[in-house]
Amino acid sequence: MTTQSEERKWQGDWGGEPAGVEDVFALAAELARRVIDRDGKIVPLPEPIQVEAELALSPPREGVSIEVVAERLWRLLECTPNTSGKRYFNQLFAGRDDAAMLGEMLAAVANNSMYTFKAAGAQVLTERALLAHMGCKVGWASCDGAFTPGGSMSNFAAMLVARNVSLDGVRERGIDGRPVAIYTSAESHYSIRKNAGMLGLGRDCVRAIEADIDGRMKVAALREMLERDIAEGVTPVAIVATAGTTVQGAFDPMRDIAEVAHEHGVWLHVDGAFGGSLLLSGKRRPLLDGCELADSFTWDAHKMMGVPLTCSVVLFRDPGLLQQSLDESASYLFQRDEDDYNPGVRSIQCGRRNDALKLWAAWQHHGDEGYERRVERQFALAAHAVGVIEADPNLTLVRKPQSINVCFAIEGVDAREVCGLLDSEGRQKVSHGTVDGRPIVRLVCVNPDLTEADLEEFFEDIRWAAQVIGDR
Ligand SMILES: Cc1ncc(COP(=O)(O)O)c(C=O)c1O
Repeated sequence: MTTQSEERKWQGDWGGEPAGVEDVFALAAELARRVIDRDGKIVPLPEPIQVEAELALSPPREGVSIEVVAERLWRLLECTPNTSGKRYFNQLFAGRDDAAMLGEMLAAVANNSMYTFKAAGAQVLTERALLAHMGCKVGWASCDGAFTPGGSMSNFAAMLVARNVSLDGVRERGIDGRPVAIYTSAESHYSIRKNAGMLGLGRDCVRAIEADIDGRMKVAALREMLERDIAEGVTPVAIVATAGTTVQGAFDPMRDIAEVAHEHGVWLHVDGAFGGSLLLSGKRRPLLDGCELADSFTWDAHKMMGVPLTCSVVLFRDPGLLQQSLDESASYLFQRDEDDYNPGVRSIQCGRRNDALKLWAAWQHHGDEGYERRVERQFALAAHAVGVIEADPNLTLVRKPQSINVCFAIEGVDAREVCGLLDSEGRQKVSHGTVDGRPIVRLVCVNPDLTEADLEEFFEDIRWAAQVIGDR
């Protein structure tokens, strides 16, 4: 029999002096405020070994109060890069969206799993509405799709369906050893090769089609390789075109690629993880001309749309194919008569977090028109950056940008060293890439809340770093 004090102790272990929900939100608000207060800065990171030594990272034997947890959380955040500030250009995402944050926080509070209407109610309907709306932007009056944990997984789902459609019986009996091929440009994202490996097709089946000087797939080279493969008995599984390549932000010529795909009956997937959001702007839509002729489309809302990670969708022109590739019976979970409202039958995952609510909240707030303005603002910032580079004899624009990635080289110094110095000095976080075998700085103008003055400061820092390195 437990005594009263033991009982209290047990309750105490579970919740301490149980913090009320108001206390939790007050702590969350205070921590969020501290994070936001750092927006103007890059947080110089200590070495990982130092963080491990200084912070209590392993779960303790005895729990601590929620206030102590909050202080420990803050110590972690102090050693965490700030992606929302004015000096963050490192990735294809940046900035912060208030409405999306609100949706994201409430998704955690509500904690629904998105497999069925029974488990998630209206949440699965917001997901359906978003998928339909995004499909319309691609150019499909009706479509099918799913939210996934990122662009790589959206590409995976599309490639999985392509594999199952192209290779008879593969879902039931597996790969039978016949030679297969996937075609994508040499500039495409690494997830295409990785997914080919994960799908049992083998990474070597991916043909890296040469890109032209602007980073766009050469369609004549695609046709030549595809027709040679077919003549040699290889089964094409998919062509993957990219709408917005990772380094240069280039757009493959989708209409011409679709012509080749349709001529030979090959599945066409468009990886618009990065550049899919250009569908939100009438002025930029021509860069994706022909994407509506594809069979599937990846679109990350956590990149250009500024929704917190992760928020990605994969869309299919032909409703039904995704479910055919993923459906399993689980009578405890799926009530068959409601499958339209049970996204679990079209999902790689079983339990699945609600990534739709943050996008839904943001889209309610901005509307289609707000998103169009957002894209145009990103392009305006990129155009400003181009002007600064062209006016500086020590900077070379290595390609005329097709979208919001501005790739440039710095006279006499290695871009990798410049990016490294800016980071270690806490001035700017920006990544480097390679174009024509030459290291370049990749400036991605993805945060629309920046100003032209912020970009001027960025270039001042570039010049400062180049000078320091040059003087060494
Ligand atoms: C073109 C392209 N496709 C796919 C991905 C993968 O997206 P995620 O990071 O959401 O998995 C990226 C990421 O940068 C990308 O640039």
